[in-house]
Amino acid sequence: MPLRYLNGFDIDKLKKETCDVIVIGSGVAGLYSAINLDRDLKVLIISKETLAENNSYLAQGGIAAAVAEGDMPEYHFEDTIKAGAGACDEAAVKVLVQQAPRDIEMLCSIGTNFDRNPDGTLTTTREGGHRRFRIVHALGDATGREVFDSLLRECKKRSNISILENCFAVDIVSDPKGCKGLIVKIEGEYRYIASKALILASGGVGQVYKNTTNAAVITGDGMAMAYRAGAELTNMEFVQFHPTAMYSTAAYENKFLISEAVRGEGGILRNTEGKRFMPEYHEMAEVAPRDIVARAIFTEMRKTGSPFVYLDVTHKDPEFIKTRFPNIYKHCLKEGIDITKEYIPVCPVQHYFMGGIRTDLWGQTNIKGLYACGEAANTGVHGANRLASNSLLEGLVYGRRCAEKINSTVAEVNLEQPEIQYKRENISAADTSGIRESIKNLMNDHAGIERNGKDMSMALRKVNEYIALLEKDSLDSPEDMETLNIAYIASLILKGAIRRKTSIGSHYRID
Ligand code: SIN
Repeated sequence: MPLRYLNGFDIDKLKKETCDVIVIGSGVAGLYSAINLDRDLKVLIISKETLAENNSYLAQGGIAAAVAEGDMPEYHFEDTIKAGAGACDEAAVKVLVQQAPRDIEMLCSIGTNFDRNPDGTLTTTREGGHRRFRIVHALGDATGREVFDSLLRECKKRSNISILENCFAVDIVSDPKGCKGLIVKIEGEYRYIASKALILASGGVGQVYKNTTNAAVITGDGMAMAYRAGAELTNMEFVQFHPTAMYSTAAYENKFLISEAVRGEGGILRNTEGKRFMPEYHEMAEVAPRDIVARAIFTEMRKTGSPFVYLDVTHKDPEFIKTRFPNIYKHCLKEGIDITKEYIPVCPVQHYFMGGIRTDLWGQTNIKGLYACGEAANTGVHGANRLASNSLLEGLVYGRRCAEKINSTVAEVNLEQPEIQYKRENISAADTSGIRESIKNLMNDHAGIERNGKDMSMALRKVNEYIALLEKDSLDSPEDMETLNIAYIASLILKGAIRRKTSIGSHYRID
């Protein structure tokens, strides 16, 4: 059992605020849920750092939705189920694909500037696992940034929505009747925010791994605090590795993504001997589902002894590359590679998390008043392997549904202040330095693309030792609290992966 709360507190003694709904997270799921909440509800959005520090902002490829002529939600359904390797919740996928066009329309109505064809229709592209062109995108390869900017503009227009930046969410406060509010740390002091409902849209777990595309803030805090509060976390072994992050030896906190849309537009994967290899692995070649491409690259890297393979777009019109992928083009140029003339070195890294806080079709968790959406949630739509560009989509559809459920039920909820005092005696000031790096390395080496029980058990023993050490310590700084959150999530991923003996989707066992 984890600690119930990271720190001791007495609610009576904390500075207090109240609101109707707290939203933790400023990515697409959080902002979109906020604008779908009724305007007479007092809504507070909490962001750990500045608002744009989130994974949605980094999203390049786009949003999957059956909006192009000839496409249908039924086809989108089939591709999602197939990519999910038989582990998707069909009812949840149906909701996702059927409601996708309506949320794209809503974004257009608030001014999201999606890329368009000369006739005004939305431009669509293709990515791994999609049998049709159905990914809408913006600014070429900066869809997340455009959607985030438009949602934030909309939030700022609403007088019922306030935003707290640089605010660390420490713990969900609950009693047997449900979720009551949140303890945060802001400007060095702890505060208690009471609310009638709480939406966790705090993102995934990328920083549990050494190599990830995820923003530096993505340390699994929301999932870890839900776990401490008794929420059900499921499918924790399903971690997605994106096939093509740019290979670089620079010590960035996250790896630069080379969008799957680059392959969707004809990019070819070659090993370091220059040989195209994907047709040997799957009939859909470079646009096969993500887990298959990631494993194929991993195999080729092992065969050639190289830490990367190449992505080749040199056969494409240079002007097309520069306008369709302006940010990728500029970033690679900065790293010394002109992608219109040279191959891009790429390798798979952690990118997305399919597991998370179990919810129903309305984002409700097993704790009354606690909702989850976006990457923090496990709605069941992704199964064992998420279909490309279904992530922003899930954030939209299920973020809105959380809001709709709260709108229709919140009037029955009274704002109550629980009388909770939580004591922690064990202040031992252990030396926690180096623990975070060690866990990230363990996860990289033993809970990656290929897994085996013996190594994972060894990693779990080590992570459990770190948890024991951290639980003894006084965790006053957000960095130390993040490290314990990382440790809890790492242990849950390892436990899930050890328990699941057979390979499925992203979970690939070699023993
Ligand atoms: C990408 O652009 O390849 C990422 C899209 C996604 O994660 O679905």
